[in-house]
Amino acid sequence: MKNPAAPPQHSEPTPPAAHRRRARYAGKHPRRFEDKYKELQKNPETIAQVIASGKTPAGAHLPVMLPEVLDALRPEAGSVAVDCTLGHGGHTRGILQRILPGGRLLALDTDPLELPRTEAALRAEGFGEDVLLTRKSNFAGLPAALAASGISRADVILADLGVSSMQLDNPARGFTMKSAGPLDMRMNPARGLAASQWLERVRPAELEATLADNADEPDAPLLARILAGGTFLTTTDLAAAIRNALPNRLPLEREKAVRRVFQAVRIAVNEEFSALEALLRALPLCLNPGGRVAILSFHSGEDRRVKKAFQTAFREGRFTAISQDVIRASPDECRANPRATPAKLRWARI
Ligand SMILES: C[S@@+](CC[C@H](N)C(=O)[O-])C[C@H]1O[C@@H](n2cnc3c(N)ncnc32)[C@H](O)[C@@H]1O
Repeated sequence: MKNPAAPPQHSEPTPPAAHRRRARYAGKHPRRFEDKYKELQKNPETIAQVIASGKTPAGAHLPVMLPEVLDALRPEAGSVAVDCTLGHGGHTRGILQRILPGGRLLALDTDPLELPRTEAALRAEGFGEDVLLTRKSNFAGLPAALAASGISRADVILADLGVSSMQLDNPARGFTMKSAGPLDMRMNPARGLAASQWLERVRPAELEATLADNADEPDAPLLARILAGGTFLTTTDLAAAIRNALPNRLPLEREKAVRRVFQAVRIAVNEEFSALEALLRALPLCLNPGGRVAILSFHSGEDRRVKKAFQTAFREGRFTAISQDVIRASPDECRANPRATPAKLRWARI
C-alpha cells in the first residue's frame, strides 16, 4: 500500500514551513501596557486584585480624595455640576450619585482619545444625556463651554488637575519615562507641538525658566544648556540625556531630575498654567450664589496659583469663604494609591 504521507517522486522536497514563534502569552504577569490593558478588559475581577495590591489597573485612574472632594463641594439632589477634568470619570460618578434625582453634570476634558471611552462607560452604566453632558473642551474656555451646553451657572465645579493614569501609563502617549514611546506628552494630540518638537525649538533661556518655574529644578541652567535644541524622538532618549547630563549625582537624584524635567516639559507643552489661570479668573462668574468649587493640584506651581487666586477673590468679596488650610489625602489612601501623595485640595464658596 502506498504511503499517503510519502512525497511524490521526482518532485522538489517541500521546504519546512518557516517556524513562526507564537507570541508569548502575557496573561499571568504581562509587562507591556497593551498586554496589561487587554488582560484587564478580559478579566474585570483582576481589577479589584490590582487595586487591592496598591496599584492602578492599566487603562484606569483611581479618583483622588473622593470623600474629601464631595465634602468640600457638598453636591445635593438637583444641583448643576461641572467636572472640568473628566478623566476616567471617578469624581464624575461620585458627584452624579449625589445630584440625582434632578441634577445635571457637564463633564469636560481636552483629551479626544480618553473622553469617548469614559463617556461610553458612563452611558453603559445608565447615565443618559438628560443627566450627563460631555464636551471635548479645555477648561480655560469654561464660560463658553457652559454657554454652549445651555447652562448659565453651576452649583458645583471640580478641577482635578494634571494628567490621568491612562495618559501617564500608556507609552504611546509619550508621558512616561519608564518605557519607550514617541516623545509627545500632549493631552490633546491635535493641538500644539509634541514635546520632541518643542524641545527642538526652545532656546536655552526659555528652557531654563521652564525647568525652574514648572518643576523647581535645581540644575535648570545646566540641563537647559544641554537639552535645548536637542533631538529626542523617544521618552527614553530624553530620560537618558538627562541622566547623562548629571553624571556625578546619585542614581536616585538623577531619577528625580528626570521626573522633574518630564513634568516641566509636559506643563509647557500643554500650556497648563495659562489654562489654570484662565479657569481661576472665570470661576466666580460661573458659579450660582452659594456655589462651591474644589481644585485638586499636584505640585507647587499649581497650588500656588490656586491659593493666590482664592485668597485674592476672598479679599475682594468675590468668594464668601475659602478653605483655611490645604486638605491632604489620608495615609491609607496614599498607601493604596501613591499618586494621591502630592495631592492638595482647596475649595471656595461664592
Ligand atoms: C487627573 S485626571 C482627572 C481624573 C478624574 N478626576 C477621575 O476621577 O478619573 C485629569 C484629566 O484632566 C484633563 N485635563 C487636563 N488639563 C485640562 C484642561 N486644561 N482642560 C480640560 N481637561 C484637562 C486630562 O486630559 C485628564 O483627563
